[in-house]
Amino acid sequence: MTLAILSALAEEQHGLVDAMQGMQCLRHAGRDFWLGRLHGHEVVCALSGIGKVAAATTTAALIERFGVRGILFTGVAGGIGAGVNVGDVVIARTFLQHDMDASPIFPRWQLPGYGCSTMACDAAATDRLVQAADSAVRSGIVASYASARVHQGLIASGDQFVSSRQASAQLRADLEAAGHAVLAVEMEGAAVAQTCLDYGTPFAAMRTISDRADDSAHVDFSDFVRTVASRYAQRVVLDFLRQTPAKKQAVC
Ligand code: ADE
Repeated sequence: MTLAILSALAEEQHGLVDAMQGMQCLRHAGRDFWLGRLHGHEVVCALSGIGKVAAATTTAALIERFGVRGILFTGVAGGIGAGVNVGDVVIARTFLQHDMDASPIFPRWQLPGYGCSTMACDAAATDRLVQAADSAVRSGIVASYASARVHQGLIASGDQFVSSRQASAQLRADLEAAGHAVLAVEMEGAAVAQTCLDYGTPFAAMRTISDRADDSAHVDFSDFVRTVASRYAQRVVLDFLRQTPAKKQAVC
């Protein structure tokens, strides 16, 4: 059964697609899906697209059309938790949609029909991802971020690039007041998590921190992705695959 590697950005995907054996590209739902073998696993690589709807469509296509047994996501995020700095890696344990607000009918952030605000990632796959990220960060593959750290916890997703100190401080304060200690913000993960929850598909996600979701969040973004985030993503994905039993069912 096939494992999906979903990337937010093309730069992160290139190296993985280049490393695939027997690679072929299939176009479906207006997207490219790259199929092949990596470290003894049948894999399909795809881009999530930007924003929650695009990411949910790609995820549903991976599950329905390609029958994937699990999804591993890589991308970048804005750090909003205390001590979550540029160059750090955040591994998601849970996701929440920070722009979901059906109050007063439902509590703020609660997903109507699901009875919860946060969605959990697959615990075993996430443990392996933490190990792979720790090893990548300790290896010093990115010399300019020698003191980078790996964090694990809540990532919040929304259809918004958070780019002001005031907006990120407000979001963090609102979430913390409700008991949600948020580490980072991005634009896709909670949509992938919700679609995986619907289908019972295991899911794990890593994000490299590209900015602090403040007024300079957009500066040097593509340079950072090319020189830092894509290196971590490739190393962590390959290490993760190495640790993952190729034939095991259900857990990615
Ligand atoms: N991805 C990377 N940085 C981000 C930010 N500041 N807001 C939302 N998504 C992001």
